[in-house]
Amino acid sequence: MPVTSREVHLVARPEGEPRPSDFTLVERLLPDPRDGQLLVRNTAVSVDPYMRGKMSGIRTYTDPYELDAPMEGAAVGVVEASRDESFPEGTVVVHNAGWRDRAVVEAARVRPVNVTDTIPATAYLGVLGTTGFTAYVGLLHKAGLREGDTVFVSGAAGAVGSVAGQLARLKGAARVVGSAGSAEKVRHVTRDLGFDAAFDYREGPVAGQLAKVAPEGIDVYFDNVGGEQLEAAIGAARDFARFA
Ligand SMILES: NC(=O)c1ccc[n+]([C@@H]2O[C@H](COP(=O)([O-])OP(=O)(O)OC[C@H]3O[C@@H](n4cnc5c(N)ncnc54)[C@H](OP(=O)(O)O)[C@@H]3O)[C@@H](O)[C@H]2O)c1
Repeated sequence: MPVTSREVHLVARPEGEPRPSDFTLVERLLPDPRDGQLLVRNTAVSVDPYMRGKMSGIRTYTDPYELDAPMEGAAVGVVEASRDESFPEGTVVVHNAGWRDRAVVEAARVRPVNVTDTIPATAYLGVLGTTGFTAYVGLLHKAGLREGDTVFVSGAAGAVGSVAGQLARLKGAARVVGSAGSAEKVRHVTRDLGFDAAFDYREGPVAGQLAKVAPEGIDVYFDNVGGEQLEAAIGAARDFARFA
């Protein structure tokens, strides 16, 4: 039986910060899933920084969003009707038909995930999704973190930076330091995320603040922001330092 979905459509290209008038909510009937397709009810959708670029209409490393069409992005949902025996009803899946409450998706393009008492479905949009993967690959594969390294993470309270710092700590870094944009975020980074030290990059020149928290220099810089923080990291780099 056909079901209704509510979808967020982009109706105008935002200038500056997106406004509610750039979007509209559209209700439409979904077709029944055909062979190899699933009807999925979304329980969480991801809103990510890269989406702002896709709203602008310019092709970057992905195609822009079309106007008057449903937006896309990562989502987790529950299979409500299945025409693929590998995904029985009730399976929780990650897929890319976000920004709507239901979607008919190709089973070949979704991934089942394991939700437990301690791992909520939303983790697959964050630490167990692209965000965590970005931190993991950057820190361990690109920067080649080694035990005993001193690691500097900018954007340390952000989605990727907060995972990168925690991974560095778990993987044996000797010292993990970070930067963030307020005293509250600096507290969060050191108190909740286990960084050894952090500073507010708005409080003064970054090079001087970095020298205070990492007086012997850094071996790894995980760069989320570029600019003055990248320049300071270059200045603080020890021999054979690696940047990601
Ligand atoms: N999220 C993903 O899945 C993903 C995947 C691939 C690549 N990336 C890339 O990873 C980087 C971080 O993304 P994210 O998802 O972690 O974003 P995020 O949660 O928005 O964190 C980025 C942080 O950067 C800081 N920042 C922003 N503008 C700044 C400026 N002008 N100067 C200094 N700091 C500034 C902000 O820190 P304060 O608020 O503390 O000021 C913000 O928390 C981005 O370059 C993004 O394109 C992300």
